[in-house]
Amino acid sequence: MANDRRPDEMVRITTPELAEAFIEEQLTALREQIGDKKVLLALSGGVDSSVVAALLIKAVGQQLVCVHVNHGLLRKGEPEQVIEVFRNQMKANLIYVDASDRFLDKLAGVTDPETKRKIIGGEFIEVFAEEARKLDGIEFLAQGTIWPDILESEAGIKAHHNAGGLPEDMKFELVEPVKILFKDEVRVVGKALGLPDNMVYRQPFPGPGLGVRCPGAITRDRLEAVRESDAILREEFAKNGLEGKVWQYFTVVPDFKSTGVKDGKRTFDWPCIIRAINTTDVMEVTVEHLSDELIDHLVDRIIKEVPGINRVLFDYTPKPPATVEYE
Ligand code: XMP
Repeated sequence: MANDRRPDEMVRITTPELAEAFIEEQLTALREQIGDKKVLLALSGGVDSSVVAALLIKAVGQQLVCVHVNHGLLRKGEPEQVIEVFRNQMKANLIYVDASDRFLDKLAGVTDPETKRKIIGGEFIEVFAEEARKLDGIEFLAQGTIWPDILESEAGIKAHHNAGGLPEDMKFELVEPVKILFKDEVRVVGKALGLPDNMVYRQPFPGPGLGVRCPGAITRDRLEAVRESDAILREEFAKNGLEGKVWQYFTVVPDFKSTGVKDGKRTFDWPCIIRAINTTDVMEVTVEHLSDELIDHLVDRIIKEVPGINRVLFDYTPKPPATVEYE
């Protein structure tokens, strides 16, 4: 395809007009590529795949089949919200697959970050392939790959699961209509496509999900601690007017324990790390400094409400040198 790579001279999409021009171009390209065939979309509910869904619904309507895979590494309430927004409100053709046990069983005992990413990515593609085999005439697989994913995969920094390959026997052709865009451009395009603000300005969430926020071997109890602390963080950011203002914020529960004390008794539990960052293109990020009051409140809630946590830490490291995610 002509627009396989981001042209050096491409103007950054910052206005509705530029977004409209991009959309028109993509609609033509998508119709040309897909014809009267069916497309399967990996719909995670994040900005990228939601924009891809909106583009495809516009381009090919009912030829689009959305599949939402719950890999067990989603945030609290997320699968429910995807079903509500896409099936109930946008009337998309949505298949929901709960594959949590399958993913978590495969990941059990796996500590290497890149191996974890590859297992999640590989399994993800497998689930799609299985869903596709149940359907008639699927020839395309749509993905919300964006330009930084491709650059970082090429540079060998990390293997982004959505830039990975398909099983040998599957003959899907990839449809990646936002792959030459930076994240900020995807949002401008989403807005121009009429997607609701809470979807367009939603913070990014990595394909491997909470799996990369549970460093080392994933266990169900530590994963639950990540999920619960993340839910508290999101709730507090919303209450304190930080939602939509801070680019991305989440918690990480590393695989080590330290000594603490609760009700006069010794505890030996995990720490919970809070990360809150700002950026425009995720190539470089700065840290959002929270107020002392908010930090104190977060520490108090997380310690009290999340089983297995006895310390709360705040990550003050920008990117570079640290990446946003821990794995
Ligand atoms: P890093 O950790 O690379 O993260 O500094 C930059 C941004 O990308 C998100 N991220 C991912 N998104 N698939 C995705 O779709 C992935 O495998 C992936 N890894 C990281 C991360 O959350 C941050 O916003």
